[in-house]
Amino acid sequence: MLIVGVVGSPRKNGLTNRLVREALAGAESAGAEVKIVYLIDYDIRPWTPEHPKAPEELNEIMRKADGYIIGAPVYYLDINGLTKDFLDTVDLGDSNGKPGFGITIAGGTGKGLVLAIKSIYYFFFCKSIRALEPLPVSRFNFEPALKKANELGRKLVEEAKERRPFKSLEERIRYFNNIKYLDRDMVDEILLLAEQLIQSSPKQEYREEAMSYYRKAKELISRGEKNKAITYAVKAYELLYY
Ligand SMILES: Cc1cc2nc3c(=O)[nH]c(=O)nc-3n(C[C@H](O)[C@H](O)[C@H](O)COP(=O)(O)O)c2cc1C
Repeated sequence: MLIVGVVGSPRKNGLTNRLVREALAGAESAGAEVKIVYLIDYDIRPWTPEHPKAPEELNEIMRKADGYIIGAPVYYLDINGLTKDFLDTVDLGDSNGKPGFGITIAGGTGKGLVLAIKSIYYFFFCKSIRALEPLPVSRFNFEPALKKANELGRKLVEEAKERRPFKSLEERIRYFNNIKYLDRDMVDEILLLAEQLIQSSPKQEYREEAMSYYRKAKELISRGEKNKAITYAVKAYELLYY
């Protein structure tokens, strides 16, 4: 069984690389053969009628895979262009029912970690990939995320043992509709970042105050007042941001 991990960052020694490597280490420890692919090593161009496909050497690796890990850095709240060009042009062959999961790393302010996940999972939906839960990562949850990457790598191997193709569009929509984070918006995202900061920010003197803003935002959301919640979610995030 082969698990392929894709590093979408042009920086081969960056955070995306660390996360994808850890996920592959998990897959390897569960008995899979693993391969890491750095997109920057290939001549990947935007889709055009003249160049509709990624380099064949890369397509071949992807077609041989029994499971996929796609790791992308977040640029302006979305995956970076290199990863998107890869997704637009890669030829996976028949990928129906193969498992995969996506990792996004918003290494600056953290914003976009959740929003960017959608770009990878919409691709998974279109390719009928049986996606596991996504792994959205920022500087603030990086260490626990490494552990989670390893766990998801192991889980991917379990899933890849028995390929379960989707039988209908209805089944596929139902499946993707239940995937975590795909229905989150900017407000949910800033609250998630506030949550991460409550755990990991060195500015502990503001923790109590930030927590009260966080709770207030949650309460407003539960009452259906999401617009009002923005004020408090942002305060919690900004107080603890470092
Ligand atoms: C053009 C550009 C836009 C970026 N936009 C964001 C952003 O919206 N949110 C964020 O948290 N970080 C942003 N960053 C920072 C990257 O997410 C961060 O450097 C990340 O570590 C890149 O992954 P790498 O270490 O694998 O290269 C941006 C970086 C670049 C170059």
